[in-house]
Formats: sequence, C-alpha cells, structure tokens
Amino acid sequence: MNVKLVYRLPTIEEYNLLRRSVEWPEFDVELVKRALSNTLFSVIAEVDEGVAVGMGRVIGDNAIYFHIQDVIVRSDCQGTGVGALLMKELLAYVDRHSGKNTNIGLMCSKGREPFYLHFGFVERPTEKFGSGMIKVVSD
Ligand SMILES: CC(C)(COP(=O)(O)OP(=O)(O)OC[C@H]1O[C@@H](n2cnc3c(N)ncnc32)[C@H](O)[C@@H]1OP(=O)(O)O)[C@@H](O)C(=O)NCCC(=O)NCCS
Repeated sequence: MNVKLVYRLPTIEEYNLLRRSVEWPEFDVELVKRALSNTLFSVIAEVDEGVAVGMGRVIGDNAIYFHIQDVIVRSDCQGTGVGALLMKELLAYVDRHSGKNTNIGLMCSKGREPFYLHFGFVERPTEKFGSGMIKVVSD
C-alpha cells in the first residue's frame, strides 16, 4: 500500500467516513465543522490519489496542554504501520510547540493502550495520577 501523509484537515465527509469505518459514532455536521476548525494540527494518510485512509489531529492550547485526538486508520488498512506514521507526525508537531512540563493527553479506546505505549504514553492511574475522568453530554 502506497501511503502519502498530507498535512491538512479532513473534510467533514472524510471525518465521518473514517469514524464510521471504526464504528465510532458520527457527529452533527455543524459540530464537526466547528471542531475541525479549532484543530491545531492535522495529518491525513492518503492512498490512490487522495483517498483518506487515516487521520490524526492535535487540539489544545498550543503550549502547555495538548490532546491527541481522532487517531483513526480505516479498518482494512490497520496493522500496516499507518497509525505509527500518523502518531510520529502528531508528536513531532507537539515537540515543535512544547516546553518544559508540557502535557500531552489522550483518551484511549478500550484495548488500544499497547499502541500508545509505543510512543511513551503511560496508562493511568499511576502512583502520582488518578484514573482521569470523562463526561459525555447526552443531548
Ligand atoms: C489504533 C490504531 C490507530 C492503530 O493503527 P494501526 O495502523 O493499525 O497501527 P500500526 O500498524 O501503525 O501499529 C503500530 C504498532 O502498534 C501496535 N498496535 C497497533 N494496534 C494495536 C492494538 N490494538 N493492540 C496492541 N498493539 C497494537 C502494532 O502491533 C505495532 O507494533 P510494532 O511496531 O511493535 O509492530 C488503529 O487500529 C485504529 O484506527 N483503531 C480504531 C480507532 C482507534 O481505536 N483509535 C485509537 C483511538 S484511542
């Protein structure tokens, strides 16, 4: 598979298509539009003249707190190194904009922890950190 990394936002359609391919819920178009426009950095893995098979983006305050979000590789392209290529680009972006004690967070899908361990992330809780918490708005 010939994969090309492109530094751009996904289109709304690409975003929802990639989410659907990994059975993640889709969001309303207006929400996606606003979310994507507030992205700090986005990278897309393309094959066959621009077909997006993977994406990842960085959100946050661009200095102290960064969050890795929407790391997705289309299911039929998983396990071929695309996810790792995307992560390297996301972390390189953070590296260029971070300082001492900068914090890179992510919400890991269940079972995907080993993927992120490759890139220096640690599983919470640790001796110092609690579990981390989340609240999903239902309507
Ligand atoms: C998680 C995901 C992004 C990984 O992408 P990928 O292209 O399949 O991963 P890669 O082929 O680049 O794998 C990189 C390394 O991570 C490992 N890895 C990838 N997924 C893994 C998993 N679920 N469990 C354990 N190890 C995993 C690979 O074995 C590989 O290790 P190696 O370098 O020692 O061989 C992809 O499976 C995906 O999109 N999943 C659905 C969406 C998702 O859960 N995204 C993560 C959000 S938290």
